[in-house]
Amino acid sequence: MRAPSISERKRKHLEVCLSGAAAYATRTTWFERYDLPYTALPELDLADVDTRTVFLGKPLAAPVLIGAMTGGTEHAGLINRHLAEAAQRLGLGMMLGSQRAMLERPETRPSFLVRAVAPDVLLIGNLGVAQLVRGYGVEELVEARTSVGADAMALHTNPLQEALQSGGDEAFAGVIERLREVVPAVGAPVLLKEVGHGLSAALARAVADVGFAALDVAGAGGTSWAKVEDLVRYGEVRHADLVEWGIPTASALQQVREVLPDMPLVASGGVRSGVDAAKALALGAQVVAIAQPLLASALESADAVVDVLARYLRELRVAMFCCGARDLSALAEVTPSLRPRA
Ligand SMILES: Cc1cc2nc3c(=O)[nH]c(=O)nc-3n(C[C@H](O)[C@H](O)[C@H](O)COP(=O)(O)O)c2cc1C
Repeated sequence: MRAPSISERKRKHLEVCLSGAAAYATRTTWFERYDLPYTALPELDLADVDTRTVFLGKPLAAPVLIGAMTGGTEHAGLINRHLAEAAQRLGLGMMLGSQRAMLERPETRPSFLVRAVAPDVLLIGNLGVAQLVRGYGVEELVEARTSVGADAMALHTNPLQEALQSGGDEAFAGVIERLREVVPAVGAPVLLKEVGHGLSAALARAVADVGFAALDVAGAGGTSWAKVEDLVRYGEVRHADLVEWGIPTASALQQVREVLPDMPLVASGGVRSGVDAAKALALGAQVVAIAQPLLASALESADAVVDVLARYLRELRVAMFCCGARDLSALAEVTPSLRPRA
């Protein structure tokens, strides 16, 4: 059977993600295992809570990125513009979806161009680690970044997804050496991210000296990209154990933080409320990223995306208020407690 083209596959990815069917069914983020310490006398006004931060050298009104999603399809340009406009209005950052389609089919480039509506946002481009093994290098990373005016590049690593994808890239041997050659030569910050199956302590050790500007743990408990591929390929889950495999986001975050105490970290994968975000920030993340929950609103309008994100931001502010954390450095000092097991 012929492998589907990138744009056909991307269209099906969007359909499956929108349907909600690609969420983990049996694995959670483990954020639910933690409680933030509740303070009945916070000694600050809610209006005084300050969520501002700087990430990768750019100011953010709150420690929230719109997660990497799309580009290269019919709807992608619209989705990206709505997401970007919302990020600009709220002072948040944004990651683009994989730009491989753009490098291989330059006619899809306009779907990635968001600077006109988001001149000030922290914008992060995206390519796959698997492509580096197959011949992409510094030139492609630089082109991907500069042609969309991004501030930084994210490299996604997704072996489980690729292994289940029809025609996926299965060659990962030599990948760390390749990253060592390429990442320091890009001349801009490069992040490493998973896509929802998580980075581990062992991986953090292995990439400690590669030169990444940040790591996005992209753990399990939200969208399972292995499940997306099974559903796209067969219309059903055929590999029940594989699609539920991954390191829960809260665990991935703690594992990576322990090995790399000074590395800027993004927590993503199943961040589904501002309280999840507050827990992630208290457990050692600098920012969080949110993908699937923004997809439906992104098809609709920038206003709809702003509405969804405003709920997260409000919840984050209230969580900080009721922990007595005036700003993000105070929140980082907060120790979430483990809930007793039922
Ligand atoms: C529709 C959609 C498309 C995605 N495409 C990409 C991509 O091109 N590159 C990438 O690195 N991650 C991609 N992701 C993965 C997300 O960035 C994120 O790591 C993952 O979905 C887990 O976050 P979530 O649980 O908030 O959805 C995509 C996610 C969604 C929902």
